Amino acid sequence: MRRIICEYLSLACVLVVLIHGGEAHHHLKPKIKIERVTDAYGLSEGPHWDSDAQKLYFVDIYNQYVRRLDPATGVVTSTYIDHGPVSVVVPVHDSPNKLVVGSGKDVILVNWNSDANQKVTPYNVLSNLTSGDVRTNDGKADSAGRLWIGTMANEINGQIALDKGSLYRLDDTLKPKTEITPVSISNGLAWNIEDNTFYYIDSSTREIAAYDFDPNSGTISNKRIVLNLNHTKLEGVPDGMTIDTDGNLWVALFGGHGLIKVDPHKHKVLEKIELPARDVSSVAFGGPLLDILYVTTSGHGLTAEERKKTPYAGSVFAIHNLGVHGILANTFLFNKVDESLDEEKIIEEKDM
Ligand SMILES: *[C@@H]1O[C@H](CO)[C@@H](O)[C@H](O)[C@H]1NC(C)=O
Ligand SMILES: *[C@@H]1O[C@H](CO)[C@@H](O)[C@H](O)[C@H]1NC(C)=O
Repeated sequence: MRRIICEYLSLACVLVVLIHGGEAHHHLKPKIKIERVTDAYGLSEGPHWDSDAQKLYFVDIYNQYVRRLDPATGVVTSTYIDHGPVSVVVPVHDSPNKLVVGSGKDVILVNWNSDANQKVTPYNVLSNLTSGDVRTNDGKADSAGRLWIGTMANEINGQIALDKGSLYRLDDTLKPKTEITPVSISNGLAWNIEDNTFYYIDSSTREIAAYDFDPNSGTISNKRIVLNLNHTKLEGVPDGMTIDTDGNLWVALFGGHGLIKVDPHKHKVLEKIELPARDVSSVAFGGPLLDILYVTTSGHGLTAEERKKTPYAGSVFAIHNLGVHGILANTFLFNKVDESLDEEKIIEEKDM
Protein backbone atom coordinates (compact mmCIF):
# COMPACT_ATOMS: atom_id res chain seq x y z
CA MET A 1 0.00 0.00 0.00
CA ARG A 2 1.02 3.59 -0.38
CA ARG A 3 1.10 6.46 2.00
CA ILE A 4 1.00 9.96 0.70
CA ILE A 5 2.82 12.87 2.25
CA CYS A 6 1.99 16.33 1.02
CA GLU A 7 4.56 19.08 1.03
CA TYR A 8 3.46 22.60 0.22
CA LEU A 9 5.96 24.34 -2.05
CA SER A 10 4.68 27.84 -2.78
CA LEU A 11 2.00 27.23 -5.41
CA ALA A 12 2.73 23.63 -6.08
CA CYS A 13 1.76 20.77 -3.85
CA VAL A 14 4.14 17.91 -4.36
CA LEU A 15 2.93 14.58 -3.13
CA VAL A 16 5.62 12.09 -2.45
CA VAL A 17 4.37 8.57 -2.64
CA LEU A 18 6.24 6.20 -0.40
CA ILE A 19 6.07 2.67 -1.58
CA HIS A 20 6.19 0.14 1.24
CA GLY A 21 7.51 -3.21 0.09
CA GLY A 22 6.17 -4.02 -3.36
CA GLU A 23 8.20 -4.75 -6.43
CA ALA A 24 8.96 -1.11 -7.08
CA HIS A 25 11.68 -1.26 -4.41
CA HIS A 26 13.45 -4.18 -5.99
CA HIS A 27 13.44 -2.67 -9.48
CA LEU A 28 14.56 0.75 -8.25
CA LYS A 29 11.72 2.36 -10.19
CA PRO A 30 11.72 6.13 -9.63
CA LYS A 31 9.07 7.27 -7.19
CA ILE A 32 5.79 8.53 -8.52
CA LYS A 33 5.60 12.30 -8.12
CA ILE A 34 2.26 14.10 -8.00
CA GLU A 35 2.37 17.82 -8.62
CA ARG A 36 -0.48 20.32 -8.54
CA VAL A 37 -0.31 22.34 -11.74
CA THR A 38 -3.32 24.68 -11.58
CA ASP A 39 -5.42 26.61 -9.09
CA ALA A 40 -8.55 24.99 -7.75
CA TYR A 41 -11.46 25.62 -10.12
CA GLY A 42 -14.96 24.13 -10.11
CA LEU A 43 -15.64 20.84 -11.87
CA SER A 44 -12.46 20.53 -13.92
CA GLU A 45 -12.90 17.79 -16.54
CA GLY A 46 -12.13 16.63 -20.05
CA PRO A 47 -8.32 17.05 -20.26
CA HIS A 48 -7.03 17.01 -23.85
CA TRP A 49 -3.30 17.19 -24.60
CA ASP A 50 -2.62 19.32 -27.67
CA SER A 51 0.66 17.82 -28.81
CA ASP A 52 1.26 20.42 -31.56
CA ALA A 53 1.15 23.26 -29.05
CA GLN A 54 2.32 21.22 -26.02
CA LYS A 55 -0.58 22.58 -23.99
CA LEU A 56 -3.37 20.99 -21.97
CA TYR A 57 -6.98 21.94 -22.65
CA PHE A 58 -9.64 21.16 -20.06
CA VAL A 59 -13.11 22.37 -19.15
CA ASP A 60 -14.69 23.81 -16.02
CA ILE A 61 -18.18 22.43 -16.49
CA TYR A 62 -20.60 24.50 -14.41
CA ASN A 63 -18.51 27.68 -14.49
CA GLN A 64 -18.71 27.30 -18.29
CA TYR A 65 -15.07 27.80 -19.17
CA VAL A 66 -12.71 26.17 -21.58
CA ARG A 67 -9.28 26.52 -20.00
CA ARG A 68 -5.76 25.87 -21.26
CA LEU A 69 -2.64 25.16 -19.24
CA ASP A 70 0.80 25.93 -20.59
CA PRO A 71 2.90 23.51 -18.54
CA ALA A 72 6.10 25.35 -19.50
CA THR A 73 4.98 28.52 -17.69
CA GLY A 74 2.17 27.30 -15.43
CA VAL A 75 -0.13 29.92 -16.96
CA VAL A 76 -3.81 29.02 -17.40
CA THR A 77 -5.89 31.01 -19.88
CA SER A 78 -9.68 30.75 -20.09
CA THR A 79 -12.62 31.53 -22.32
CA TYR A 80 -16.23 31.78 -21.12
CA ILE A 81 -18.85 29.90 -23.14
CA ASP A 82 -22.30 31.45 -22.96
CA HIS A 83 -24.20 28.32 -23.97
CA GLY A 84 -24.69 26.17 -20.86
CA PRO A 85 -22.44 23.68 -19.03
CA VAL A 86 -19.17 23.05 -20.89
CA SER A 87 -18.48 19.32 -20.95
CA VAL A 88 -15.66 18.68 -23.39
CA VAL A 89 -13.19 20.39 -25.71
CA VAL A 90 -11.44 18.94 -28.76
CA PRO A 91 -9.33 21.01 -31.18
CA VAL A 92 -10.36 21.02 -34.84
CA HIS A 93 -7.77 19.30 -37.05
CA ASP A 94 -5.40 21.72 -38.83
CA SER A 95 -7.42 24.77 -37.76
CA PRO A 96 -5.56 26.96 -35.29
CA ASN A 97 -7.78 28.57 -32.62
CA LYS A 98 -10.81 26.45 -33.56
CA LEU A 99 -12.26 24.07 -31.00
CA VAL A 100 -15.32 21.85 -30.91
CA VAL A 101 -16.96 22.04 -27.54
CA GLY A 102 -19.83 20.16 -25.92
CA SER A 103 -21.97 22.82 -24.27
CA GLY A 104 -25.52 22.55 -23.02
CA LYS A 105 -27.29 20.10 -25.34
CA ASP A 106 -25.17 20.98 -28.34
CA VAL A 107 -21.84 20.65 -30.07
CA ILE A 108 -20.53 24.11 -30.86
CA LEU A 109 -17.56 25.49 -32.76
CA VAL A 110 -15.53 28.01 -30.78
CA ASN A 111 -12.96 30.51 -32.01
CA TRP A 112 -10.32 31.23 -29.37
CA ASN A 113 -6.70 32.23 -29.53
CA SER A 114 -5.91 30.43 -26.33
CA ASP A 115 -2.73 32.40 -25.62
CA ALA A 116 -4.97 34.98 -23.93
CA ASN A 117 -8.11 35.12 -21.83
CA GLN A 118 -11.21 35.88 -23.83
CA LYS A 119 -14.43 37.36 -22.48
CA VAL A 120 -16.41 37.39 -25.71
CA THR A 121 -16.33 33.97 -27.26
CA PRO A 122 -17.63 33.70 -30.81
CA TYR A 123 -19.25 30.34 -31.41
CA ASN A 124 -21.77 28.66 -33.66
CA VAL A 125 -23.91 25.63 -32.98
CA LEU A 126 -22.72 22.77 -35.17
CA SER A 127 -25.21 20.20 -34.00
CA ASN A 128 -28.29 20.19 -31.78
CA LEU A 129 -27.27 16.87 -30.32
CA THR A 130 -30.24 16.24 -28.11
CA SER A 131 -33.31 17.69 -26.44
CA GLY A 132 -35.04 17.29 -23.08
CA ASP A 133 -33.63 17.69 -19.59
CA VAL A 134 -30.14 16.47 -20.52
CA ARG A 135 -26.73 17.91 -21.26
CA THR A 136 -23.61 16.83 -23.08
CA ASN A 137 -20.83 15.15 -21.13
CA ASP A 138 -17.47 13.55 -21.93
CA GLY A 139 -16.30 13.07 -25.51
CA LYS A 140 -13.29 12.34 -27.72
CA ALA A 141 -12.35 12.14 -31.39
CA ASP A 142 -11.54 8.76 -32.93
CA SER A 143 -8.67 8.04 -35.33
CA ALA A 144 -10.76 9.19 -38.31
CA GLY A 145 -11.56 12.49 -36.60
CA ARG A 146 -15.18 11.68 -35.71
CA LEU A 147 -16.38 13.10 -32.40
CA TRP A 148 -17.86 10.63 -29.92
CA ILE A 149 -19.82 12.53 -27.32
CA GLY A 150 -22.30 11.41 -24.69
CA THR A 151 -25.11 12.92 -22.68
CA MET A 152 -26.61 12.61 -19.19
CA ALA A 153 -29.64 13.95 -17.33
CA ASN A 154 -29.20 17.36 -15.73
CA GLU A 155 -28.34 17.18 -12.05
CA ILE A 156 -31.41 18.21 -10.03
CA ASN A 157 -30.93 18.53 -6.24
CA GLY A 158 -27.84 16.34 -6.52
CA GLN A 159 -29.79 13.59 -8.32
CA ILE A 160 -29.21 12.44 -11.87
CA ALA A 161 -32.11 10.55 -13.47
CA LEU A 162 -31.08 7.22 -14.98
CA ASP A 163 -31.23 6.11 -18.62
CA LYS A 164 -31.78 9.61 -20.07
CA GLY A 165 -28.49 9.79 -21.96
CA SER A 166 -26.87 8.32 -25.06
CA LEU A 167 -23.51 8.14 -26.76
CA TYR A 168 -23.43 9.80 -30.18
CA ARG A 169 -20.95 9.83 -33.04
CA LEU A 170 -20.63 13.02 -35.05
CA ASP A 171 -18.68 13.24 -38.31
CA ASP A 172 -18.25 16.29 -40.54
CA THR A 173 -21.79 15.92 -41.93
CA LEU A 174 -22.77 17.09 -38.43
CA LYS A 175 -25.64 14.58 -38.24
CA PRO A 176 -25.32 12.77 -34.92
CA LYS A 177 -25.63 9.00 -35.00
CA THR A 178 -26.72 7.24 -31.81
CA GLU A 179 -24.18 4.57 -30.89
CA ILE A 180 -25.21 3.45 -27.39
CA THR A 181 -28.58 4.09 -25.72
CA PRO A 182 -29.84 4.39 -23.09
CA VAL A 183 -26.98 5.35 -20.80
CA SER A 184 -27.13 7.27 -17.53
CA ILE A 185 -23.87 9.22 -17.19
CA SER A 186 -21.92 8.90 -20.42
CA ASN A 187 -18.25 9.25 -19.51
CA GLY A 188 -14.80 7.78 -20.22
CA LEU A 189 -13.81 6.80 -23.75
CA ALA A 190 -10.58 5.28 -25.06
CA TRP A 191 -9.32 3.40 -28.08
CA ASN A 192 -6.35 1.03 -27.87
CA ILE A 193 -3.23 1.64 -29.95
CA GLU A 194 -4.20 -1.16 -32.37
CA ASP A 195 -7.41 0.86 -32.93
CA ASN A 196 -9.61 -2.23 -32.83
CA THR A 197 -11.11 -1.87 -29.35
CA PHE A 198 -13.22 0.91 -27.86
CA TYR A 199 -13.52 1.22 -24.09
CA TYR A 200 -16.47 3.03 -22.57
CA ILE A 201 -17.83 4.00 -19.17
CA ASP A 202 -21.41 4.68 -18.16
CA SER A 203 -20.56 5.85 -14.62
CA SER A 204 -23.83 4.73 -13.00
CA THR A 205 -23.17 1.09 -13.84
CA ARG A 206 -19.74 1.24 -12.13
CA GLU A 207 -18.53 -0.85 -15.08
CA ILE A 208 -15.92 -0.43 -17.77
CA ALA A 209 -17.10 -1.92 -21.06
CA ALA A 210 -15.20 -2.88 -24.21
CA TYR A 211 -16.46 -3.08 -27.80
CA ASP A 212 -14.86 -4.20 -31.03
CA PHE A 213 -14.13 -1.08 -33.08
CA ASP A 214 -13.91 -0.82 -36.85
CA PRO A 215 -11.89 2.34 -37.58
CA ASN A 216 -13.02 2.45 -41.25
CA SER A 217 -16.74 2.45 -40.66
CA GLY A 218 -16.52 3.83 -37.12
CA THR A 219 -18.85 1.11 -35.84
CA ILE A 220 -18.77 -0.69 -32.50
CA SER A 221 -20.02 -4.18 -31.67
CA ASN A 222 -19.68 -7.12 -29.30
CA LYS A 223 -20.01 -5.41 -25.91
CA ARG A 224 -18.34 -7.09 -22.94
CA ILE A 225 -17.49 -5.93 -19.42
CA VAL A 226 -13.80 -5.64 -18.56
CA LEU A 227 -14.24 -4.48 -14.95
CA ASN A 228 -17.16 -4.17 -12.55
CA LEU A 229 -16.23 -1.95 -9.60
CA ASN A 230 -18.96 -3.63 -7.56
CA HIS A 231 -16.66 -6.65 -7.44
CA THR A 232 -13.88 -4.59 -5.83
CA LYS A 233 -13.56 -2.63 -2.59
CA LEU A 234 -13.04 0.62 -4.50
CA GLU A 235 -15.15 3.65 -3.70
CA GLY A 236 -16.73 6.04 -6.18
CA VAL A 237 -17.73 5.61 -9.80
CA PRO A 238 -15.51 5.33 -12.87
CA ASP A 239 -15.42 8.65 -14.71
CA GLY A 240 -12.91 9.86 -17.35
CA MET A 241 -10.46 7.34 -18.79
CA THR A 242 -7.37 7.03 -20.95
CA ILE A 243 -5.14 4.21 -22.16
CA ASP A 244 -1.38 3.60 -22.37
CA THR A 245 0.64 1.92 -25.10
CA ASP A 246 0.70 -1.33 -23.07
CA GLY A 247 -3.10 -1.43 -23.39
CA ASN A 248 -3.81 -0.69 -19.73
CA LEU A 249 -6.58 1.74 -18.81
CA TRP A 250 -6.19 4.68 -16.42
CA VAL A 251 -9.54 5.49 -14.86
CA ALA A 252 -10.54 8.44 -12.66
CA LEU A 253 -12.71 7.53 -9.67
CA PHE A 254 -15.30 10.21 -8.93
CA GLY A 255 -15.97 9.87 -5.21
CA GLY A 256 -12.99 7.51 -4.97
CA HIS A 257 -10.14 9.89 -4.00
CA GLY A 258 -7.90 8.73 -6.81
CA LEU A 259 -7.47 6.81 -10.00
CA ILE A 260 -6.80 3.23 -10.98
CA LYS A 261 -4.72 1.41 -13.57
CA VAL A 262 -6.70 -1.47 -15.02
CA ASP A 263 -5.59 -4.42 -17.14
CA PRO A 264 -8.72 -4.92 -19.26
CA HIS A 265 -7.61 -8.35 -20.49
CA LYS A 266 -7.04 -9.80 -17.03
CA HIS A 267 -10.00 -7.84 -15.57
CA LYS A 268 -7.65 -6.66 -12.85
CA VAL A 269 -6.93 -3.43 -10.99
CA LEU A 270 -3.13 -3.18 -11.13
CA GLU A 271 -2.62 -0.03 -9.11
CA LYS A 272 -4.45 2.74 -7.25
CA ILE A 273 -3.04 6.24 -6.95
CA GLU A 274 -4.52 8.52 -4.30
CA LEU A 275 -5.12 12.22 -4.92
CA PRO A 276 -5.96 15.02 -2.48
CA ALA A 277 -9.54 15.36 -3.79
CA ARG A 278 -12.56 13.12 -3.35
CA ASP A 279 -13.91 13.60 -6.85
CA VAL A 280 -11.30 12.74 -9.45
CA SER A 281 -12.93 13.39 -12.81
CA SER A 282 -10.63 12.52 -15.70
CA VAL A 283 -7.14 11.72 -16.97
CA ALA A 284 -5.02 12.32 -20.10
CA PHE A 285 -1.39 11.64 -20.95
CA GLY A 286 0.66 14.64 -22.00
CA GLY A 287 4.13 16.10 -22.11
CA PRO A 288 6.70 15.81 -24.94
CA LEU A 289 6.97 12.04 -24.36
CA LEU A 290 3.29 11.52 -23.44
CA ASP A 291 4.48 10.11 -20.12
CA ILE A 292 2.92 12.62 -17.73
CA LEU A 293 -0.59 11.76 -16.58
CA TYR A 294 -2.69 14.91 -16.19
CA VAL A 295 -5.57 14.44 -13.79
CA THR A 296 -8.57 16.73 -13.38
CA THR A 297 -10.48 16.91 -10.10
CA SER A 298 -13.71 18.53 -8.94
CA GLY A 299 -14.35 21.05 -6.21
CA HIS A 300 -18.00 21.35 -7.22
CA GLY A 301 -20.64 20.88 -4.52
CA LEU A 302 -18.23 20.41 -1.59
CA THR A 303 -19.37 21.33 1.91
CA ALA A 304 -17.31 23.98 3.74
CA GLU A 305 -15.74 21.21 5.79
CA GLU A 306 -14.83 19.14 2.73
CA ARG A 307 -13.40 22.25 1.08
CA LYS A 308 -11.22 22.89 4.15
CA LYS A 309 -9.98 19.31 4.11
CA THR A 310 -9.29 19.32 0.36
CA PRO A 311 -8.37 22.89 -0.57
CA TYR A 312 -7.04 21.78 -3.96
CA ALA A 313 -10.15 19.92 -5.15
CA GLY A 314 -10.85 21.37 -8.60
CA SER A 315 -7.17 21.59 -9.55
CA VAL A 316 -5.35 19.74 -12.28
CA PHE A 317 -2.51 17.49 -11.13
CA ALA A 318 0.41 16.03 -13.09
CA ILE A 319 1.71 12.57 -12.21
CA HIS A 320 5.31 11.82 -13.16
CA ASN A 321 7.35 8.60 -13.24
CA LEU A 322 4.52 6.17 -13.99
CA GLY A 323 6.82 4.36 -16.43
CA VAL A 324 4.23 4.23 -19.23
CA HIS A 325 3.32 6.26 -22.31
CA GLY A 326 -0.02 7.47 -23.59
CA ILE A 327 -1.36 7.64 -27.14
CA LEU A 328 -1.68 10.90 -29.11
CA ALA A 329 -5.13 12.45 -28.72
CA ASN A 330 -7.11 12.79 -31.95
CA THR A 331 -8.56 16.04 -33.24
CA PHE A 332 -11.96 16.65 -34.90
CA LEU A 333 -11.78 16.46 -38.69
CA PHE A 334 -13.93 19.23 -40.09
CA ASN A 335 -13.34 21.07 -43.35
CA LYS A 336 -16.21 23.53 -43.17
CA VAL A 337 -14.80 25.62 -40.33
CA ASP A 338 -14.91 28.97 -42.09
CA GLU A 339 -18.51 28.60 -43.33
CA SER A 340 -19.57 27.48 -39.87
CA LEU A 341 -18.17 30.25 -37.75
CA ASP A 342 -19.90 33.60 -37.68
CA GLU A 343 -17.30 35.90 -36.15
CA GLU A 344 -19.71 38.81 -35.89
CA LYS A 345 -21.76 37.05 -33.26
CA ILE A 346 -22.13 39.21 -30.16
CA ILE A 347 -21.91 37.43 -26.84
CA GLU A 348 -22.48 39.01 -23.45
CA GLU A 349 -19.29 39.89 -21.59
CA LYS A 350 -18.36 37.96 -18.46
CA ASP A 351 -15.57 38.19 -15.95
CA MET A 352 -13.03 35.40 -16.05
C1 LIG B 1 -30.33 24.27 -33.20
O1 LIG B 1 -31.55 24.68 -32.60
C2 LIG B 1 -31.76 26.08 -32.65
C3 LIG B 1 -32.97 26.41 -31.80
O2 LIG B 1 -34.01 25.50 -32.02
C4 LIG B 1 -31.88 26.52 -34.10
O3 LIG B 1 -32.08 27.92 -34.16
C5 LIG B 1 -30.58 26.16 -34.82
O4 LIG B 1 -30.70 26.45 -36.19
C6 LIG B 1 -30.25 24.68 -34.66
N1 LIG B 1 -28.91 24.50 -35.18
C7 LIG B 1 -28.51 23.44 -35.86
C8 LIG B 1 -27.11 23.43 -36.34
O5 LIG B 1 -29.25 22.51 -36.08
C1 LIG C 1 -23.14 -1.56 -8.95
O1 LIG C 1 -23.70 -1.00 -7.79
C2 LIG C 1 -24.43 0.20 -8.03
C3 LIG C 1 -24.79 0.82 -6.69
O2 LIG C 1 -25.27 -0.14 -5.82
C4 LIG C 1 -25.64 -0.11 -8.89
O3 LIG C 1 -26.40 1.05 -9.13
C5 LIG C 1 -25.13 -0.69 -10.19
O4 LIG C 1 -26.22 -1.05 -11.02
C6 LIG C 1 -24.25 -1.90 -9.93
N1 LIG C 1 -23.66 -2.29 -11.19
C7 LIG C 1 -23.89 -3.48 -11.72
C8 LIG C 1 -23.27 -3.74 -13.03
O5 LIG C 1 -24.58 -4.32 -11.19
